[in-house]
Amino acid sequence: MTKKSYPLGIDVGGTGIKGAPVDLDTGEFVADRLRIDTPEGATPGAVADVIAEIVEHFSDLVGDEPIGVTIPGVVQHGVVRTAANIDPAWIDTNAEELIAARLGRRVTVVNDADAAGYAEIHYGAAKDRDGLVVVTTLGTGIGSAVINDGQLVPNSEFGHLEIDGKDAEKKAAHSAKEREELSYEKWAKRLTKYYTTLENLLWPDLLVVGGGVSKKADKFLPLLEIRTEIVPARLQNAAGIVGAARLAHEAHTN
Ligand code: BGC
Repeated sequence: MTKKSYPLGIDVGGTGIKGAPVDLDTGEFVADRLRIDTPEGATPGAVADVIAEIVEHFSDLVGDEPIGVTIPGVVQHGVVRTAANIDPAWIDTNAEELIAARLGRRVTVVNDADAAGYAEIHYGAAKDRDGLVVVTTLGTGIGSAVINDGQLVPNSEFGHLEIDGKDAEKKAAHSAKEREELSYEKWAKRLTKYYTTLENLLWPDLLVVGGGVSKKADKFLPLLEIRTEIVPARLQNAAGIVGAARLAHEAHTN
């Protein structure tokens, strides 16, 4: 019997780099996730070394399946274009080529929120929902994924909407709540403004809220005064890994 192999998803974040092989039938990890601290500076070369360590750890389960990697910035055809919360050395780096050369494997690099959104559509809070779904992740920054009838429109970057002359994520990301020690009520007012702007521009059928704080959704989602249905993400911190693995698999099999 040939051994089954699984694509590997790797989520590159500001503090940790996390990976796991994913069963695409269920959207579940096939083995415990491995997390390694993000190296100081988080330059492309240093991150590629950590990715290689994670791939090595799971090599038996991954076989020849591709590797999906998320980056917290715009990624056009494997080239990183922005770096709001990561080392500026990433800008204009062809991350896909760099990591593929380091690993000698097939690699797909995508935006972190796009990966998380894609996972929510296939396995999570927006499963089987057609129409326009907008997934936002509230963390250090605000990430967004726009998915219409199951099709991802990449790099939407709605965390950087300008509201009252300010970058939205600086006021409404979860990091702003922590930095300014905002109560849930105060933060919810800012989120209402943010999501109202978003819904007036896009008219989504469903909003999904991800990021670590989505675990506490009951503390702030009921306080939002918006017209669109809004629900917490279901895959939480697995979403980036799961979505990256699926996007990599699709990119290399179609
Ligand atoms: C970046 C996005 C990213 C988001 C969440 C934003 O600052 O511009 O590309 O998806 O943070 O990490």
